[in-house]
Amino acid sequence: METEVKETKGQVVSAENPGIVAPADWQPVIMGILCNWCSYAGSDLTGTSRIQYPPNIRIIRVPCSSRVDPWFIIKSLQTSADGVLISGCHPGDCHYISGNYYARRRFLVTKKLLNFVGYHENRIQFSWVSAAEGPKFAKVVAKVTEDIKKLGPLHKYKKENLK
Ligand code: FES
Repeated sequence: METEVKETKGQVVSAENPGIVAPADWQPVIMGILCNWCSYAGSDLTGTSRIQYPPNIRIIRVPCSSRVDPWFIIKSLQTSADGVLISGCHPGDCHYISGNYYARRRFLVTKKLLNFVGYHENRIQFSWVSAAEGPKFAKVVAKVTEDIKKLGPLHKYKKENLK
């Protein structure tokens, strides 16, 4: 059963839909889709180096950033995520030679499309993080989390979302 929270003060309001509100301590859920060879290894390094970063991200590993189908992003935003981060190898470093170039083009088109249908552009972000850039991965996640916190929730708030 849904336990919707109704509050009048200290609310966070969705940038896209003023009818969607959450308590001030609301935390966004971010879907992180990372390529196996660079960004996922970078996130792993962040963990093994014990670098702190916001726990808002839920990571999915894909073989290459070019594997990210726009449908993954759309489905994430439609169902549970408040934002999506896609991260791959730096230009020229893709394990599959040019996959990240395709990913970047596809990402830009998807972002424009989602912006056109009403999603704020900061809900969908892209980054390059190598396997040696643990600290950079932490910074990217912190920035994306802050950006999405400013945009508020994308889904009807449920009490279970509160930690
Ligand atoms: Fe990392 Fe292609 S393998 S972006």
